[in-house]
Amino acid sequence: MNRPWLDPQLPEPERIQLLLGTMTLREKVGQMHQIANVTSTSQDEELRAGGIGSSLFASGAWAGNQQDAGVRVEGLNAVQRIAVEESPLGIPLIFARDVIHGFRTVFPIPLGQAAAWDPESVGRAAEIAALEAAAAGLHWTFTPMLDIARDPRWGRIAEGSGEDPHLGSILATAAVRGYQGDDLRDEGRIAACAKHYIGYGAAEGGRDYNSTQIGPRTLRDVYLPPFAAAVRAGVATVMASFNEIDGIPVTGSHELIRDLLKGELGFDGFVVSDWGAVGELIAHGFAADAAEAVRKSVEAGIDMDMVSGLYDRHLAAEVEAGRVDAALVDDAVRRILRIKFRLGLFERPYTDPGGGGRIGAIPARREPGIGTMPFPGRDRVSRPTNVQQTPPAGMTQPISIPESHRARARRLATRSLVLLKNTDSVLPLRTPKRILLTGAFARARTELFGTWTLDGQESDVTTIEEALRAALPAEVKLETKLFPDEAVVYGRYADAIIACIGEHPIRSGEANSTGTIDLPPGQLEALKGLRAYGVPLIVVVFAGRPLALPWLADHADAILYAWHPGVEGAGAVVDVLLGNESPSGRLPVSFPRRTGQIPIYYNHRPTGRPVEGGLRGGNRYCDGPDTPLYPFGFGLGYTTFEYSDLRLSSASMRTDGEIEIRATLRNSGAVAGEEVAQLYVRDLAASVSRPVKELKGFARIALAPGESGEVTFRLLATDLAFSRLDGSVGVEPGGFRCWIGPDATRGIEGGFDVPG
Ligand code: GLC
Repeated sequence: MNRPWLDPQLPEPERIQLLLGTMTLREKVGQMHQIANVTSTSQDEELRAGGIGSSLFASGAWAGNQQDAGVRVEGLNAVQRIAVEESPLGIPLIFARDVIHGFRTVFPIPLGQAAAWDPESVGRAAEIAALEAAAAGLHWTFTPMLDIARDPRWGRIAEGSGEDPHLGSILATAAVRGYQGDDLRDEGRIAACAKHYIGYGAAEGGRDYNSTQIGPRTLRDVYLPPFAAAVRAGVATVMASFNEIDGIPVTGSHELIRDLLKGELGFDGFVVSDWGAVGELIAHGFAADAAEAVRKSVEAGIDMDMVSGLYDRHLAAEVEAGRVDAALVDDAVRRILRIKFRLGLFERPYTDPGGGGRIGAIPARREPGIGTMPFPGRDRVSRPTNVQQTPPAGMTQPISIPESHRARARRLATRSLVLLKNTDSVLPLRTPKRILLTGAFARARTELFGTWTLDGQESDVTTIEEALRAALPAEVKLETKLFPDEAVVYGRYADAIIACIGEHPIRSGEANSTGTIDLPPGQLEALKGLRAYGVPLIVVVFAGRPLALPWLADHADAILYAWHPGVEGAGAVVDVLLGNESPSGRLPVSFPRRTGQIPIYYNHRPTGRPVEGGLRGGNRYCDGPDTPLYPFGFGLGYTTFEYSDLRLSSASMRTDGEIEIRATLRNSGAVAGEEVAQLYVRDLAASVSRPVKELKGFARIALAPGESGEVTFRLLATDLAFSRLDGSVGVEPGGFRCWIGPDATRGIEGGFDVPG
């Protein structure tokens, strides 16, 4: 059969139209149908009929919290060969997987990555993940997750960038560019997926999948910006979210998908539903049956149905009956084909098992076997020698992670660590004679990975105990006692106690919301026992969310928040504990003192009785503090920084203008360090009530002891735009305050106005 669309010299739109024009309705619906874990034997007939457009490869019900058998290049090539060489039109499948924070090289969970306030490192992590995933035969990852989250009970707070739209937007751009590069055809690039559009993190009660109540201005000014940034960065796909907003499930929302995302934002890729969400419109009570669910999803703009099978079963009939406009199907298929063409899948549908990237034909069989490095040109490195070398069955996996990948994971993990307390500079540890190491994470391996780790390997991971032993001088006695009571016995004789505690990854991620954010059962009691002797107590907390730590804040000598730091997490933690690295992480999310304060976030509206107003009984509790235990943007280092001399280039800014805001920082401590200087702005009065503060910029600055430096922020009027009373988006004349400081509660203050 003549296939003119295969001519790579033709313009993309022409190629799409040539192919679309030859497709039957059945073949079009096939492109909109995604299944899970396809194999060349289980669905070969459907493949030959062109009835499948995509397959994802995911573990089972425990989404993201259970490893599966992994993906094999040979298996993916076998599936692709049937689709390309045995179906009438030879349209390749697009293969997807949740490569959420690394493939074989596991980086910190995204919330930990956000704590690094380091877009360059986040982008490089995405680039490495894409390289490794592409080498394994994958074309598409379901990340970055861009859900703004203000409720740490929600387990999926682990997967995003926290509570702030500005930080979330910066990191969204970095991740999309890291996965996709400038051209999806380039080797080692995969399609990214901005998810979960939209408002998923506002689940009532922090309970996953729950209803959300989000006003139109909050939707646009808080939840939308990271998705708008991803679209501007050219994200290839968007995933619609499970939740309904004020009764309208996003999966069935024409207003949010077709009008806002595809229309107003100009998104030209394709939208995939979340797992089974098309069918869930029935459970939402938004569709009476499967056919109506299909109609509403297609009309809303869901281009691809993730694994519900309802498009496959009902869409053609709905079109033939005239209940679904065929043009909507064409638009969906056009979008899907566009991304497949952009990926170069029509020219190179296969993947070289030997690490040669995407190729046009399956190579003569070469036994990949052990030792194959699918990362082209990557150096082989030694691995922890204390574990066996054979990869798990079915995996065409390298026996080691390239050193350059490890180095990036180490850097990002180190920068993700947030020092929350350091009484009397107990850290970095100074040559104690006896260290007691305790806590469940002392000997943890895969638990350091965190949720949504499908391809990390236990054999790659060093434990905290191993890393400490390797880094400490031989004369230092390191004793590891995991039983809390035994640890208490030995704690008496130690010079320092390091307690590695927190929550197991199984408690965070999808469908893992908690009713309390207290430390898991038994840990506080064990810590109180350790405290009894007055030995310096250093607590390293591993978690997928903010936990409430009031007792630690009062009684521990040091608290280092490590999130779930990934494959290089142990080394990063030990480097900071021993002073080989200085901590520079900053919180991307507010830490409540107790669960009852949730939701608590820095960029809240002032209300008519602000807490700051000091009014008795104002917007506050009568049984405890109203402020977070640790605020957004907070983090300590091993040195201190002084902010001074805030200067504005002008005291006023035109509605189409800009000003520069700068400050001087001085390292007033005794050691070098990096500070994350943050710029906040407040719009004092407007047609709608505006937040008390909004992050508008941040800059990392490294200074030697006594050294001074300057941070300069360029603030554009468009940075002050918001959803106004009349529904337009823009800046309004009036007075503004601004701060440059170390977190959302502190800083040197200035002001400017926007003249009417
Ligand atoms: C899950 C998640 C989504 C994930 C998808 C595929 O239910 O909501 O984030 O990408 O299904 O595994």
